Amino acid sequence: MNIIKHGLVVLGMIAAPVFAAGQVSISIDAGKPGPVINKNVYGQFAENLGTGVYQGMWVGPKSNIPNTRGWRNDVVGALKELHVPLVRWPGGCFADTYHWRDGVGPQDTRPSNVNGGEVEVINAVGTHEFFDLIDMLGADAYVNGNVGTGSVQEMSDWVEYMTADGGSPLARLRAQNGREKPFKVAYFGIGNELWGCGGNLKPEYYANLYSNYETFLRAPKHNKPKIIASGGDTTWTDVLSRELKGRTTGISIHQYTIAGATWETKGAALGFKEGEWISTLANTLKMDQIIKDHGAILDKNDPEKKIGLMIDEWGTWYADADASSSALYQQNSLRDALVAALSFHIFHEHAERVPMTTIAQMVNVLQAMILTDKEKMVLTPTYYTFQMYVPFQDAKTLPLAIKDNTSYTLGATTIPGVSATAARAKDGKLYLALVNTDPHQPVDVAVDVAGTKVKGAAGKVLTSAAMDAHNTFQYPQAIKPAPFSARAAGGKLSIKVPAKAVMVVALVE
Ligand code: AHR
Repeated sequence: MNIIKHGLVVLGMIAAPVFAAGQVSISIDAGKPGPVINKNVYGQFAENLGTGVYQGMWVGPKSNIPNTRGWRNDVVGALKELHVPLVRWPGGCFADTYHWRDGVGPQDTRPSNVNGGEVEVINAVGTHEFFDLIDMLGADAYVNGNVGTGSVQEMSDWVEYMTADGGSPLARLRAQNGREKPFKVAYFGIGNELWGCGGNLKPEYYANLYSNYETFLRAPKHNKPKIIASGGDTTWTDVLSRELKGRTTGISIHQYTIAGATWETKGAALGFKEGEWISTLANTLKMDQIIKDHGAILDKNDPEKKIGLMIDEWGTWYADADASSSALYQQNSLRDALVAALSFHIFHEHAERVPMTTIAQMVNVLQAMILTDKEKMVLTPTYYTFQMYVPFQDAKTLPLAIKDNTSYTLGATTIPGVSATAARAKDGKLYLALVNTDPHQPVDVAVDVAGTKVKGAAGKVLTSAAMDAHNTFQYPQAIKPAPFSARAAGGKLSIKVPAKAVMVVALVE
């Protein structure tokens, strides 16, 4: 017997809506490709913080946990599936206390020091080990230098150590330490959050400092990193984009998503009510206006679009499960999957101005791809979202219009029901990604591609019964993507997107 309960017909274990789902129309213009989504938009951040690097990724060559030269095989294997294009390291705030010489040379001669009073930084992971990791991942390097407690000389030496050809004393030291060939540093950041943990500076003062540091970052012409200035709010973007014209490839900003209205009262990763579901998603959508605000300043100061807006820290930041810890470990649920997907849609929208983002962070810290506990590892819903969106790396955006969109309202908050993005990928296929933010109602989406008769769609969908569905070491497969396909009928393609879901499909043209 079917029972009507809270507007749902409960059919045994499956709940189907009694209300007719809304019909949303999506039109894609495949004939007018827009800017390319730089693959680095799917970058990652690995800070020496909590167990993000040590334990989470690095266990050392002598560990019983299977590893390659110290890096966990399970974690590296899983990350490879994400085609990680770029990794930012070693911080974050940590970067402004990091002295690179502590992390080169024989392991047993490297000093030990303590960061944040919590995790012993054994300096086992230094420059060579980091490049070993990114070589295994096939990723590019984004190295962040130390302004806060470093010096121009120290930063200049590090860049020379990494990039110089033979003939320089630092290139010889590098060779002595096991690496003859220069490393390739795709991006080099001059400091981090200079308005805060990087030194509590004013933007004008940092702009001067930046010029001083940047002048002495000498790398051979054929191996020059792109240099990133560390920004802050729009005032910082204004000052830096005026003062550093021609001296910077990008200005970074950090934008975290909280659950709830204020940082002090922010909600937890799990066990939240619907109010924190909608507030988290509404807060995520603020990224669009933030990019527009910074973009407008850049358009004024850099109309040639030579300066990128690098969002090199983003993602959810929940109330600490363990308030006494500074490790920033948090669980990751279906809600995080939607946060990631909605953020991608916004980044695609601004593909021209946003060539790079790195989510905070890769393993065990904040909105992580992977959680580990000793020898165990679980993949998070955010991991699966990154995996589903791989085809969007270096894909060409396609104009997309949504008509008759649903909206999702709770209390005083209303957000769009459906969010979508489309692109022509390098494999030639047209990919469509869809998010249904409503945690109760599925939605029917009619898809139309101008000039083409779409025959169907096939891909993956990520959803679950609970808003905070998540994977644990005990139940590592509680939530994972399921295959999805739909066929056009009478020349029309209609896709039913479940409630609270992320979907990526390739359209069959
Ligand atoms: O990602 C965690 C921290 O958040 C970073 O170290 C810092 O840059 C930011 O405030």
